Amino acid sequence: PHPSKWGVKRKRHEKEDRALRVEETRTSTGTKPKDGTLAGNSAALPSLQRDVTSSSRERLRRNGRATIPDGQAPKRGSLKEKSLSLLSSRKALPIWVYADEIRKQLRGSKDVLLVVGETGSGKSTQVPQFLLDEPWCGGCIAVTQPRRVAAVSLARRVAEEMGTPLGSSSPASKVGYSIRFDTSVSPSTRIKFITEGMLLQEMLRDPTLPQYSAVIVDEVHERSVNVDLILGFLRNIVSKRQAVRGSRSLKVVVMSATADVQGLMEYFDDHPDAAAVGTEAQDHGSSWSGLPASGRSAGQNGEGKSDHLHERLSVCYVKGRQFPVKLHYLSEPTQDFVEEALKRVFQIHYKEPLPGDILVFLTGQDTVEALEALVNEYALGIEADVPKLVTLPLFAALPQAAQQKVFERCPPNSRKVILATNIAETSVTVPGVRFVVDCGKVKLKQFRNRLGLDSLLVKPISQSSAIQRQGRAGRDAPGQCFRLFTEDDYRNLQKRTNPEILRCDLSDALLKIKARGVQNVLEFPFLDKPPRESLENALLQLYHLGALNDDGSISDVGVRISRLPLSPTLGRVILEASSEDKDCLVEIIDIVACLSVENIFLSLATEEKKEEAESARRELMKREGDHLTLLATVQSYSSEQTDRKQWSARHFVSHRAMQNVMDVRKQLRKQCEQLGLCDTGIMLRQSEASEERSAAILRCLLAGFASNTARLLPDGSFKTLLGNQTVAIHPSSVLFGKKVEAIVFSEFVYTNRSYARNVSSVKLSWVDDVLASSS
Ligand code: CDP
Repeated sequence: PHPSKWGVKRKRHEKEDRALRVEETRTSTGTKPKDGTLAGNSAALPSLQRDVTSSSRERLRRNGRATIPDGQAPKRGSLKEKSLSLLSSRKALPIWVYADEIRKQLRGSKDVLLVVGETGSGKSTQVPQFLLDEPWCGGCIAVTQPRRVAAVSLARRVAEEMGTPLGSSSPASKVGYSIRFDTSVSPSTRIKFITEGMLLQEMLRDPTLPQYSAVIVDEVHERSVNVDLILGFLRNIVSKRQAVRGSRSLKVVVMSATADVQGLMEYFDDHPDAAAVGTEAQDHGSSWSGLPASGRSAGQNGEGKSDHLHERLSVCYVKGRQFPVKLHYLSEPTQDFVEEALKRVFQIHYKEPLPGDILVFLTGQDTVEALEALVNEYALGIEADVPKLVTLPLFAALPQAAQQKVFERCPPNSRKVILATNIAETSVTVPGVRFVVDCGKVKLKQFRNRLGLDSLLVKPISQSSAIQRQGRAGRDAPGQCFRLFTEDDYRNLQKRTNPEILRCDLSDALLKIKARGVQNVLEFPFLDKPPRESLENALLQLYHLGALNDDGSISDVGVRISRLPLSPTLGRVILEASSEDKDCLVEIIDIVACLSVENIFLSLATEEKKEEAESARRELMKREGDHLTLLATVQSYSSEQTDRKQWSARHFVSHRAMQNVMDVRKQLRKQCEQLGLCDTGIMLRQSEASEERSAAILRCLLAGFASNTARLLPDGSFKTLLGNQTVAIHPSSVLFGKKVEAIVFSEFVYTNRSYARNVSSVKLSWVDDVLASSS
């Protein structure tokens, strides 16, 4: 349907169009910012410079970390000028007034500070800068992030605010980042944004994190498994460092966007060494200016164990700034939220004047790309006198450069439509959004005990997620949120999302715990203890992978797997491939790189397109299955020298995803070399494809995925060899509809039935070999 058919009357819009034009004229004079953020930065610059007298210079240096050369205005276009121009918007952030209190709380014997403040209040960008000049802070500050995109964009932003180059671009750079497959730091890095997984890797290498003065654990409310592990390890490191006389203390700042912190407070309070530390901590006379009476720490509101809390932990509640957001519900539930979202986007665009971008929450790459294609198609029909729509996808597997585009300004007289997964819920603040469209669903990892596998399931969000999503519309101005579900549906939603550690496969987590020397995983201080059954399943899986010895201690294989930034299964596959008899690391790295990236093959809406794609992809398809097809795709793509973008279009392959695969492949090759899994230069070798080579590759996959195997039954269905569950080959697989004696699969999806995705055909005897050797 064309948008004009959705009851949006043209007449009414003439008035609004006029309003749009007025708006445009105003923005083009520069008196009103175009995207509603960083309000009037450049306009504020001259007065700011006039303000910089010698006394305020010192204040600015402390508070703003912008060094201003005596008597000189910073050069136009320089990093310093940019940094100064950002200062006024930084000062307007709600957290700014808490700067002194935050510093004060961490002086002396206090080690742990909890900062609670809504998304956008300035926690991630400002708190590290507040701490940088503190007397105790001689080393680096790590700021953990659950997502790669947030780590990079925050590093970029903080570097700009501090007027320093980013990461490895200059040896003098003060701000860097470290994410899986991409680290950019310099010898002088003082603030490092780092994904949780990468900090865990560092903790395995350097158990007491000697290079850090502080670790800021951001976004704890997301409660990823990794953040739970980090908190557990940090609790020990803090006390270890305190126990060793003369060693520098480690300060820990835990930050959350939701006020649900009671559990965390008890967690840090309940520390075995709590009573032994900080007995001289008497200096907490000052009250927190922002602390609501009812929300004070457990000590202050009379519940809980106040004495211990005050010895090591303080809490700071930052009062956020939030404009009202008007809520709209559906009157009837919808069967197709993509279609419904499409309608909302065009209704908003035609009805609401600029400025005001639209943020749509969807479930994953598939729905993001489907809506992107639809919006782009209908946007072609937008009349010349109506502003343009610029669609911007945002999901975790998107390459860096594409992710960063959401932060850029869009051309004048146009509106951004950001199509995001729940990555934009709390992790990423996209400026300028005034309209939120919430599909009410999220893709969550869920461990399925019967299958013994993790699968991604599309589930209704929790009420607290819905509130977070709604809040994204009211950062800069009053906004509106369109929920694509009914008010009744909302009332029936679960209050909060269960932490990941209670619903996913724990083998990765337990391997990390073991690799840090904790023998008995049951003794690990879990914030929420996972069910015993999940712990046992995970230990068994690690044992089958050869990562544990018979007595449950970590084996050499386990240690080596834990050093790879991959799941234990993929790590095991890599190790197998580096063995002398298999010797196919080059190929396996290509396959693993593909499996680390979301869909490479574009999903196609129509039958006609499907046929066209199938014939275009025929040369890439391998009868052994999807893994060798992925390998052929990477090999063909990388040998294309002239135009890879065109090559991708011709083969209906996502160029974006392939760029990501090439990045991951490069980093994995480097890491394998560093871990001594192969000689330098071996990666340049390209072996001829042969039947033996294919068999070796598939056998390597089996070493990691022995539990993801199934055999063909006489009725044509497949049953898993461990667990005896029925699985079907996913329709996207090249083996769909084929009868092969056994399969190995690297992914499991559950929609209306259980599907194996990324499937290869293997010999039953190979599976038997692997199962026999691992039991
Ligand atoms: O951590 P929290 O959600 O409390 O806020 P923040 O990430 O420190 O963001 C504070 C403000 O900084 C945002 O509202 C944006 O205006 C700005 N910011 C930005 O422009 N670019 C980023 N990558 C991150 C933040």
